[in-house]
Amino acid sequence: MKRTTYLDNAATTPVQPEVLDAMLPFLGPEKFGNPSSTHQFGREARAAIEGARRQVAEPLGAEPKHVIFTSGGTEADNLAVIGGALAARDSGKPFRVAVSAIEHEAVLSAARSLEAMGGEVVYLPVDENGAVSLDALDDALELGVGLVSIMWVNNEVGAVQDIQSIAAQCASANTTFHTDAVQAIGKIPCAIPNTHGVAVTISGHKVGAPKGIGALILRDDGIVQALLHGGGQQRALRPGTENVPGIVGLGMAVEMVTQNGDKAHKTLADLRDRLESGILSSIPDSHPNAAGGHRAPHICNISIPGADNETMLMHLDLAGIACSSGSACKSGSTEISHVMKAMGVNEQFARTALRFSFSHNTTQEDVDSVLEQLPAIVKKVRSLNSALRRN
Ligand SMILES: Cc1ncc(COP(=O)(O)O)c(C=O)c1O
Repeated sequence: MKRTTYLDNAATTPVQPEVLDAMLPFLGPEKFGNPSSTHQFGREARAAIEGARRQVAEPLGAEPKHVIFTSGGTEADNLAVIGGALAARDSGKPFRVAVSAIEHEAVLSAARSLEAMGGEVVYLPVDENGAVSLDALDDALELGVGLVSIMWVNNEVGAVQDIQSIAAQCASANTTFHTDAVQAIGKIPCAIPNTHGVAVTISGHKVGAPKGIGALILRDDGIVQALLHGGGQQRALRPGTENVPGIVGLGMAVEMVTQNGDKAHKTLADLRDRLESGILSSIPDSHPNAAGGHRAPHICNISIPGADNETMLMHLDLAGIACSSGSACKSGSTEISHVMKAMGVNEQFARTALRFSFSHNTTQEDVDSVLEQLPAIVKKVRSLNSALRRN
């Protein structure tokens, strides 16, 4: 059977066997209680949720009561950005939010939705490595914003922001600060800033839990307004009967992925460096993106001029290699990635960028299989592309 190589872990990861084992009893007839029920079935489910809250909170330096479970990263981002902006507005602050230009669509679209309600959005520019301009943040805070949202790690190029300094800057302006840490957990040290008014998004399926579960971690009460209304669960910030199996899975996954700290981060960085240096030395004119700044270790984004990424992805797929051209949500679109645009990457480089992303399941064999097959694929696509240009 042909070997397949999965290097698209920034898009999603498989559920880890230990996570599945922890979840299974809550999916069957054994432990099916509603966590709001007061009888033993309910108490068992409640205890499982509280255990998962601890598993999520502790490695990140938060308290269990800070964790609000959601249906994933997208919902947590929406709750933070829209709910945070509305809470700020209602406490007399400007109905204006500042977001970095390279946020995930979940934050950008949530911010844009505020415009229809009379709010304003300020976009913070980034440099060629994807680092957010702290001067622009200063200007926005001086102008007056109710909420700032800046992602911890960018999902397309891996750029890491200095979240501790940014949180401090926002706290001194008494402004709520949200960071999307979906791509940061388990990849870089992630101590949640100890400042007032911080909200942090995480998502299960990027760390070995299932899709459809995530959390917003809220350091303080009153900094977001609920977007859903219902039975009052989770301090009425996210009502609805909790997804007990998903929550149990998320708890186990966060505990596992944060267990080996620096050692695990270094393993990812070694794999990334092996792939990147191998590509740079075997593919003429290839060029890594955002490589001059602080990068997370699990993403390698590399442009291969002359080989358009959509054709490359098809050929790589045929060869059993799964990677991506950027964010999974944007794949297949003919638009240039907004992240590349914001970083000032030229169109040729943006259209030929490939993202290889790693997880704790990735092996050296995976990397070597790409290095073995990529040169011939690039050669083929480059000659196809140049033939097309001639015709
Ligand atoms: C940075 C970032 N934020 C948010 C999301 C959305 O998370 P979810 O798929 O759990 O809704 C993703 C997933 O692609 C992401 O990479």
